[in-house]
Amino acid sequence: MPNQIPHQIEQKIIDGYREKFPLSKEHHDRLINYIPGGATRSLSYFKPYPLHISHGKGAYVYTHEGHRLLDVTNAYGALVHGHGDPDVVKVVQEGIEKGSQYSTPTEGQYRLARLLCERVPGFEKVRFVNSGTEATLFAMRTARAVTGRDKILKMAGGFHGTHDSVAASTKKNVMTAGIPAGMTRDMLEVPFNDGDALERVVRENADTLAAVIMEPFLGAGGVVLPSPGFLQLARKVTAAHKVLLIFDEIFSFRVDTGGCQRRFGVVPDLTCVGKVVGGGLPIGVFGGKNEYMNIFCHEHTKRPLYHSGTFNGYETVMQAGFAALSKFDERAVGKINRLGDRFQARLLKSFKSNGLNIQSNQIGSLLNLHFVNQKITTAEQVHESVEELHALMHLSLLNRGVFTIPRGLFILSTVMSESEIDSLTDKIDETLKELLPLIEEKYNHLLL
Ligand SMILES: Cc1ncc(COP(=O)(O)O)c(C=O)c1O
Repeated sequence: MPNQIPHQIEQKIIDGYREKFPLSKEHHDRLINYIPGGATRSLSYFKPYPLHISHGKGAYVYTHEGHRLLDVTNAYGALVHGHGDPDVVKVVQEGIEKGSQYSTPTEGQYRLARLLCERVPGFEKVRFVNSGTEATLFAMRTARAVTGRDKILKMAGGFHGTHDSVAASTKKNVMTAGIPAGMTRDMLEVPFNDGDALERVVRENADTLAAVIMEPFLGAGGVVLPSPGFLQLARKVTAAHKVLLIFDEIFSFRVDTGGCQRRFGVVPDLTCVGKVVGGGLPIGVFGGKNEYMNIFCHEHTKRPLYHSGTFNGYETVMQAGFAALSKFDERAVGKINRLGDRFQARLLKSFKSNGLNIQSNQIGSLLNLHFVNQKITTAEQVHESVEELHALMHLSLLNRGVFTIPRGLFILSTVMSESEIDSLTDKIDETLKELLPLIEEKYNHLLL
């Protein structure tokens, strides 16, 4: 084991990043004049400066310096077939030439809506929007409109996008100034996986509670899986009190052809999807049972719930989504999920061989590594993970040719092969070895 002092390890990793990605620094210095922080989404920023990508192909992205990096961010889950999937590219090119937007119903909307309703058990009808944020906003509005109640219960650590009423509580260390208190007055929260609290809060608020909104597992919150029976309990309790159950499957959809609800056999009243279902183009979808979605229907009500949006159902997005989902069939899901299982098995071996007591939460093609020494079942435990180690691991992996999400989240794509997974785990193993002296010095609670 190298006998380095921690500061040197950190310095070496940061120096390595600066040396390998000097053009990112140049691009950052230019961009920062026009975009605050040089990044147009909070998560793209990290120190010493964000990475700039020039282009992507298949499982890889390329930097301006010409470095090829294995992409395990996959656009935070939106790219399930990697970059430049030929079938998606073809329909986008052909589609855009023919004209992409008419503000009318289209064939593409029919094909994608039908595919989603055939696959996702909770979808009888759907509506298209442009982001996951919009999808949860409209699912919540639908629940409020059909029940005539205002309150919504969410899970602590559950992420449902950035609109006011759900953005306030997801992350630690994130400022949520600018959200009026009134926007969260009707939001309730219980810890994920706490069945007793869920049951109690639903029962106590049944008269004023429109819906429970939850991800089937906490995605952005750390890939925290549901305890056995938790989703079933949520279904049972909400049904008993005539409260709607909304599954936010924007992140979790990709674990099965019909989302987590198909995998776990729990059918909600309303569902939101996004990310992969747009084939890498911007999309959000919300939908559910006819009895609820009919509130938008001119044929069922004189004054339907208003739902507008200049880009809703954008034809090119519909075509890209249909192309991507058509090939995201049982075979493709089986393949990508097996890669995820292989990744997990090899990673756990690496933790053990390095004498580390750290966690890896995995389901299908999604895996989150946590610098925490206990099995993780709640969002609070995720918050205990050591940020310094995440930041260094992220930079160290970039230096080794792996493009990851800073908080230890890895997202696979169907174009990856076993050899890519093995090389990925080798590189994580090398990184853990590099960090080991620092862990021994400062974080010895993470040692076996
Ligand atoms: C579960 C979940 N809901 C909602 C969203 C928000 O989606 P978007 O970023 O498209 O607005 C995300 C995005 O990561 C998500 O993971």
